[in-house]
Amino acid sequence: MSSCHPQPTVLLGVTGCIAAYKACELVRILQKQDVQVKVVMTPAGAEFVTPATFRALTRQEVALAPIDDPHAPIHHISLAQEASVFVIAPATANTINKLAAGIADNLLTTTALATEAPLLIAPAMNVHMWRDENTQLSLAQLRERGAQIIEPEEGYLACGEIGEGRLAPVEEIAAAVLAELNRSQDLTGRKLLVTAGPTREYLDPARFLSNASSGITGYTIAEEAARRGAQVTLISGPTTLPDPFGCTTIRVTSAQQMLEQAQEAFTAHGGLDAAIFTAAVGDYRPEQAQQQKMKKAATGSATELQLVANPDILATLAANKGSAYIVGFAAETQDIIAEARKKLHQKQADLIVANDISDPSIGFASAHNCWHLVTAEHTESTGLLPKKALARLLVDRIVKEIQ
Ligand code: CTP
Repeated sequence: MSSCHPQPTVLLGVTGCIAAYKACELVRILQKQDVQVKVVMTPAGAEFVTPATFRALTRQEVALAPIDDPHAPIHHISLAQEASVFVIAPATANTINKLAAGIADNLLTTTALATEAPLLIAPAMNVHMWRDENTQLSLAQLRERGAQIIEPEEGYLACGEIGEGRLAPVEEIAAAVLAELNRSQDLTGRKLLVTAGPTREYLDPARFLSNASSGITGYTIAEEAARRGAQVTLISGPTTLPDPFGCTTIRVTSAQQMLEQAQEAFTAHGGLDAAIFTAAVGDYRPEQAQQQKMKKAATGSATELQLVANPDILATLAANKGSAYIVGFAAETQDIIAEARKKLHQKQADLIVANDISDPSIGFASAHNCWHLVTAEHTESTGLLPKKALARLLVDRIVKEIQ
């Protein structure tokens, strides 16, 4: 993780584009902010600005070929691990399309595939290449995976045409890189709890009551917080997802177990800084779970199932939250904001993230969602965003609140 590096290193990828010369200015701006910059170039990039220029500017070797450094025998891995942020500026259509497809045919693309560092991409190209379906599809895929695209500007292009495709101003690219660097450590020393996934309430050894929650939202938030230095305890109901990187993951089955583990996490660490309740907790459990498998009754006969209400994990913990910042989630079908605000007050949360599950274009199965961040005083909508971008935005908000 990036937290291993005392001095942040920005890895700057330069591809074969006339705007490559602007990357020199980007190096200077970042250096003035005490950031170490290392440059990796594609062979085409090195045709536009020579590696010697970047070597002189950065006072570092420029990475060009997969096996060109005797001190780094697996060069793409050492570069990938060293980077706190990887910014590709300018990024050509060719490199963007390769990144989306996972092609690793030069040191820059291989490093991009190998790194855990946040990826920022500043495209620059001809307007028709920018509008091309392949390019736009690749950009959409990269955004979904968490890459930030620093949108090009409209203007007079090197090819003589006028339209979108001109590299964003280097000051804007530098600001995005610096913001991402700040993010990389802004939760250091903080303790967070995340609940995620569905719960299961067994009727008998073979059957249970549950729901369709995938757990993705909670896992994505947990991973984002851990990446930014937080000590994260993730308490998860049954999901098919692997444990997120850098978190302590505790697997539970029922709502009661989730409550017990959450209570322990609240007390064990001498208080939490924030708790984010994304779990789709079953509202009810059978009054009496059967020890043996229930046998089928005659066709058409009625069977009664007595259910009791489960404890509300969020409300139970928020009642003694101390200084912890409490975030709840609310999936609603009508009066979204009003219903969310009701939950905010009833459960004593500080923020409710509400979303409209009646809209089929977003929600459980979609890669995108639109969240409404509801507090006692304000409501703020995120607009439609990839789930990773939403997680980043929510963690940004939590960082501000617990400062
Ligand atoms: N929640 C919880 N424990 C429960 C039920 C809900 O911790 N037993 C949390 C969820 O993780 C979420 C928030 O409370 O953060 C709201 O959950 P939701 O299911 O929308 O609300 P409910 O309280 O169950 O109300 P309803 O189903 O009537 O909308």
